Parts: sequence; structure tokens; C-alpha cells
Amino acid sequence: MTAAGLQVHLDQAGNLIGVRHGRTPAAPAIRTGSHTDTVIHGGRFDGAVGVVGGLEVARLLAENDIELDHDFIVVDFFGEETNAFGLSCLGSRALVGSLTTQHLDRVDDDGMTLGSRYEGFGLDPSYVLRAGEAFAKKRLHRYVELHVEQGPVLQERGTSIGVVTAIAGIQRLVADFIGRPDHAGSTPMEDRRDAIAAAASAVLAIRQEGCSAPRHGVSTTSKIVTEPGSPNVVSSEARLWAEIRSVDAPWLASAPGRLTDEIQAKAHSFGVEVDLTWWLDNPTVPAHEAVQETIVTAVDALGIEWQPIPSGAVHDAAHIAQLAPMGMIFVPSLDGRSHCPEEWTAPQDIVTGVHALAATILELDHS
Ligand code: HGY
Ligand code: MN
Ligand code: MN
Repeated sequence: MTAAGLQVHLDQAGNLIGVRHGRTPAAPAIRTGSHTDTVIHGGRFDGAVGVVGGLEVARLLAENDIELDHDFIVVDFFGEETNAFGLSCLGSRALVGSLTTQHLDRVDDDGMTLGSRYEGFGLDPSYVLRAGEAFAKKRLHRYVELHVEQGPVLQERGTSIGVVTAIAGIQRLVADFIGRPDHAGSTPMEDRRDAIAAAASAVLAIRQEGCSAPRHGVSTTSKIVTEPGSPNVVSSEARLWAEIRSVDAPWLASAPGRLTDEIQAKAHSFGVEVDLTWWLDNPTVPAHEAVQETIVTAVDALGIEWQPIPSGAVHDAAHIAQLAPMGMIFVPSLDGRSHCPEEWTAPQDIVTGVHALAATILELDHS
């Protein structure tokens, strides 16, 4: 960031922030950025392209001695990926003041609270909660984030740029199935209270919910932990983690109710009790129409093929949208793969994305 001519600091919520001051200090800032943390065994492009893309824009401005009217800010957000506390976008959530003490009190599988994990990063949780106040003083004009699509659409259509229309909301679920341990050899099938069997039926119900979404929706069971796990004992307990996503807010809001009824009915048919805990990780967030139009104007002027596209992935932009009009620019992902070592975006596609981002920033500076 320093080499790109930015003034750099780490804010109270762990976000790395680089600023290129504009002609009018009192004007609200134009902000871009993304994240450089990844999922376990993730790829090298998810998030990184948006941070490095923002740096490239800063370097282009410096090299061409272009002074914007607005401050130009590049952010590497803290902790964007969903973590063991079931929370994504920690840094941007803190910046908009929506990280709460209840969030900090959440406990991970090792019994550590999120607050203690912040301390492990050298961050004071009480300051993290107040990061929003400090940031609010520096008003925001617009926010645009460059990101890899993480899906197959742009590659399938042969389009270089996606103009994001909305970011999917996420409903998260933890379900605890309580059965009964029994001898695997001598217990008749009809007498069993098999927690894994009940959890397995829930996995298929969750999957069917995503497959039957009327407009846009996906559903994923990511983990099941069972007890006792002995090869000759019918499982007594199973804990299941899942999520449902959609840009269709009404459908997303209705899914937990449908699934709760179905999962409970199936569990009871196995003689198993089930306790479901749902929470909204983030609501569905539309990209701002005016920012989408500005991106289109900039991309059209460059003669680049683009198309509108919803984002099934969540991004810091979903939270920063609470502070200012937000937009996102997607570049293609090879074979739609992401959150895996095979994640790849061709260098030329990244260059096209950076040009689109730079042209959009220049357009926004006049808006
Ligand atoms: O989960 C997501 O969509 C993002 O990768 N955090
Ligand atoms: Mn990302
Ligand atoms: Mn990700």
C-alpha cells in the first residue's frame, strides 16, 4: 500500500486501510477493497484480486499523477471468511457498527470466545465494538469492490465483466439430533433412535430446499459431528451445520420455517429429538442502481462485454452498503471453481477487471 502511494494504518477492527487524499478533504471518500483471508485449503484469488486491484488503481493514479476530488481508500478487510463462530465479514461488520457483544461472546469448538480470539490478534474487543463510531466520521461517497465470480456464469457466456445486481442473504443452521446409544447388532431396526439416520434425512431435506428454489437459492450442509462414533454402537447424537442462501429475500425468510417442520417430522419418525438454531448471517443486499449504472458507463466506454449477475457469495460490500451506495465488479472464475486450490482467474481477466475498476472510480469521482 505504501509503495502504491497510500497512507496506511490498521484500524481498531483489524482492517488494513490505505488512503490517497483528494483535492477536497471535506468530500466523502470513494472506497474499494476486499479481503486476503481465505477458507481452509482455499484459493489465491477470492478476495485477493479486489485488494490487489485496488492497489493497482492507486498505483495508476500515482503514476499518471491523477488527483481525485474525493479521498480514495483501499481496504483489506479483517476476517471476511465465515469462521467457527458462524460469522462472516468481521471487519466490515465492525466498521458499520453491527458487531455486538453477543457476537464477541460466541464460543468456538475449542471453547474460546470471539472476543478472546480478537485479543489473540492483538485487537482490543472493546475498541472493535466502537470501530463504527470512528469510521462514521469519515463519510463515504461510494463503495465498489472487484471480486472473482466464484461461479461458472461469466465463463459460460464468454463475458469479461459481471455487474453485480445483488448479494445473497445467508441463513445459518446448527441442528442437534438426540437419539439413543444401542448395540448395533442386537437392537431391532424399529427400536432404534438413530441420530445419524435422522441427520442424514435432514441433509437431503436441506439439499432439496436449495434445488427447489423458485428464482435463486442454494443450500449446503457443511459438517456433521456424531457421538459416540463407535463402529458397533447406534449413534446417540449428531450435530449438523448448514446454510441457505438466496437473493430472493422472501424465499430466504420462509426457508427456515419449512425446513424446521420437515426436519423435525423426519427426526421424530426415527424416534429422535432435534433442536434447531437458525440465525441470519447477513440479509440479501441489492447493489445500488446508480453505482451499477456508473460501472456500466465505465465498462461500455472501454468496450468491454459485461452482463448483470447476482452474487451467491457474500462480500464485505454487503455490509458497507449500510454506509454508502455499493456496487461490485466480477471477473470470470475458471470452470466456476472457488474455495479450493483449483481456484483460478486468467491474468488478462484480472487486468480487464482492474481497468473496469479504475474507470469506475474515475466516473464516481465526478458523480
Ligand atoms: O461465504 C462466502 O460467500 C464468502 O466466501 N465469505
Ligand atoms: Mn471473497
Ligand atoms: Mn470466500
